[in-house]
Amino acid sequence: MSDFDDAERQIWAGRAEAFRDSFAKLCAHTVPALLDAAGAGPGTRLLDVGTGSGTVAAAACARGARVSAVDAEPGMAALARRAAPDADVSVAILPDLPFAAGTFDAVVANFVINHVGRPAQAVAALRAVTRPGGHVAVTIWCRPAGAGHELLDRAASEAGVQRPAGLPQLAPVDDFPHNAEGLTCLLSGAGLGEVTCQQLDWDHVAPPEQWWGGAAAGVGIIGQTIGRQAPEAISRIKTAYDRLVPEYAGPDGQLVLRYHALLAAGRA
Ligand SMILES: C[S@@+](CC[C@H](N)C(=O)[O-])C[C@H]1O[C@@H](n2cnc3c(N)ncnc32)[C@H](O)[C@@H]1O
Repeated sequence: MSDFDDAERQIWAGRAEAFRDSFAKLCAHTVPALLDAAGAGPGTRLLDVGTGSGTVAAAACARGARVSAVDAEPGMAALARRAAPDADVSVAILPDLPFAAGTFDAVVANFVINHVGRPAQAVAALRAVTRPGGHVAVTIWCRPAGAGHELLDRAASEAGVQRPAGLPQLAPVDDFPHNAEGLTCLLSGAGLGEVTCQQLDWDHVAPPEQWWGGAAAGVGIIGQTIGRQAPEAISRIKTAYDRLVPEYAGPDGQLVLRYHALLAAGRA
C-alpha cells in the first residue's frame, strides 16, 4: 500500500454520510453512461468497485443485474448495503479484490481510479476478475474537473488559505495524463482490448449549502483543504464562498456547476 493509499483511507474514514449527501449527487450523473458502456442489463454479473454510498450498485440492480460491490471504507459499504439491498456488498481495497479470476461479466469503477496510489495495478485488478470478453468501464475527472471545485478553490484562495501539507499526491511514476489518450493507454496497458474513451459534460445543479456542506465536512481533496483549517479560517472561506456563489448560480439561486469527466471502457 502506497502513502497515497494510506492518506486516501484517512480522507474517506467517517465521511460516508457527508459524501452521500453532497458529492455523490455529482458522481451520479455518469452512472447511466457507465452502465451502458459495461453492457449492464438483466442477469449481468456486475462488480461495482469503490461503490461509495452505492449509487452505481443500486442503478445496476434496477437494471436487473446480479450485483456485487466493494469499497475500502466500511462506512461506505454500510450505506451501499442500504441503497442496494439486493447487492452483495463487502469491504475490499484495490488492487486486492476477493474474487476468483473471470467471475464477472462487467466490472465498473465510477471515480475510483483517480483515488488509488497505483492506477495501473488497479485497472489490472479490475480486468483480472472480468471474464474473457467481459466489459471493464471506468470514469475519472478531467483536469480541471469543473466549476464546483473552481468555486471552492477560489473561496479558499480569497481567504488566503493554502493547501495543507500531507495531502495525497500521486508519485509521478504512477500518474497518467487525465485526458482521453492517457486513460485509453492506462486501460490498454492493463491488457484490455477494444478500448474506447469519451468525455462527458453536464451541469450539476445543487443548493449552495449542500455543495458547501460536503467540502466543509472534509470530503475529497478540496474538502480536506477547507476542513483541516482552524475554525476562524473556515469561516473566512465561507464568507468568500457566499460572496462568489451568485457568479455560479441560476435565477433560482441554485448553483449550476459545469463538470467534465472521462468514461473509458474495454474488453477483458
Ligand atoms: C469519489 S468516491 C466514488 C463513489 C461511487 N463510485 C460513486 O460514484 O458515488 C470514491 C470511492 O472509492 C473508494 N476507494 C478509494 N480508494 C479505494 C480502493 N483502493 N479500493 C476500494 N475503494 C476505494 C472510496 O472509499 C470512495 O467510496
